[in-house]
Amino acid sequence: MNILLLGSGGREHALAWKLSRSPLCRNLWIAPGNGGTRNVGTNVNISATDFDALADFALEKEIEMIVVGPEDPLVLGVVDYFKGKPALQHIPVIGPDAQGAQLEGSKAFAKQFMMKYNVPTAGYKEFDATNVNDGLAYIDSLTPPIVLKADGLAAGKGVLIIQDKEEAKAALKDMILESRFGEASKKVVIEEFLDGIEFSVFVLTDGTSYKILPPAKDYKRVGVADTGLNTGGMGAISPVPFVTEELMRKVEEQVVKPTIAGIKAEGMDYKGFVYVGLIKVGEEPKVIEYNCRLGDPETEVVIPLLETDLVKLFLAVAGGYLSEEELEFKNEHCATIMLVSGGYPGDYEKGKVIKGDHDIEDSLIFHAGTKADDGKLVTNGGRVIAVTSLGATLQDALNTSLANAHRIEFDGKNYRKDIGYEFVG
Ligand code: AMP
Ligand code: GLY
Repeated sequence: MNILLLGSGGREHALAWKLSRSPLCRNLWIAPGNGGTRNVGTNVNISATDFDALADFALEKEIEMIVVGPEDPLVLGVVDYFKGKPALQHIPVIGPDAQGAQLEGSKAFAKQFMMKYNVPTAGYKEFDATNVNDGLAYIDSLTPPIVLKADGLAAGKGVLIIQDKEEAKAALKDMILESRFGEASKKVVIEEFLDGIEFSVFVLTDGTSYKILPPAKDYKRVGVADTGLNTGGMGAISPVPFVTEELMRKVEEQVVKPTIAGIKAEGMDYKGFVYVGLIKVGEEPKVIEYNCRLGDPETEVVIPLLETDLVKLFLAVAGGYLSEEELEFKNEHCATIMLVSGGYPGDYEKGKVIKGDHDIEDSLIFHAGTKADDGKLVTNGGRVIAVTSLGATLQDALNTSLANAHRIEFDGKNYRKDIGYEFVG
């Protein structure tokens, strides 16, 4: 098959790597891709949100499947765009339609959905310019910490957790009345603070049936022991030691089943991944958020564990017969450590020459922010390379990634050396 993958991060390199290994994959293009995806397919310099250019390219190259990595094209309706054009309708797009993508694109939409379908989550209320004063009174009625969430997409920055009520009230006004997060914070969700430990579960669905992938945990803070600023993700592990079979059973019964039933009942055209961000409160799972795609860097640890042919699975998703497929996973542990640019998640420089990535044989080197420049590989983003390793134990996987994280060099390189070690004796 001719496959077109949209996106340019570590998630997309991991997906491209896996797709390219399928005997069903004849040609793979990645739009726009990065310095690593060009090793497993062909990069094409089209933005993942330039639908007209993607459509022209898809027709020219006789693309037979489009796989969407990031959320932006989904929220902007790439699935609806291809479905709506007679010349493009025959090309399945793996990802939800715009309505389904609202599970990520609007926090208020997601909360209403969870309430309607009885998915366990934090209690909440939503506010906009018409009822800011009710929002201020609501904050007064709560016990801090207060959780404020911009309704729309805000590049992972739209959630504030505030200890002081007066500060929370000022932030609410700032978000709604002063557009602190632009359009995204015209509406704000205020919700109950949940105290527990977080993990993520990915569900592949054809809109009716579903398959659950192994749980993962990502590490969002830039500093050792989860200190410092939030990032896109500094590393991840899968599976997760505290996520027992019993907890996964609860996730499936209480969260996955009602979510998929809701997707169906709402009439969403959802053929893709549901990312369920969870928190374990006591022994119970509660949903913190939905995303309409795989996580990054969680993909870099979940996809290497998957034995099953991913193209075959996507064909089943597109054809609506996912229930007939069996998913197989390696009985191993996977860990990834993200090498990031000095200064990230604040300001950082690009264009630093990367060395040593070719000599590594016992890790998978998934590129996130890299590009080829004059025959050289250079840094091209905050998150640069995800050093991913499989191992018989979590400790083995972590040790291998850590040793190789040390061996890859570029000016200003930073990475966390403690990812996952809290679970290692
Ligand atoms: P979100 O974008 O909704 O995933 O929120 C970003 C982060 O804020 C989450 O990964 C949690 O660490 C934290 N968070 C969000 N909602 C809550 C909540 N209700 N209680 C505690 N922490 C939360
Ligand atoms: N790792 C968090 C995310 O992909 O949203």
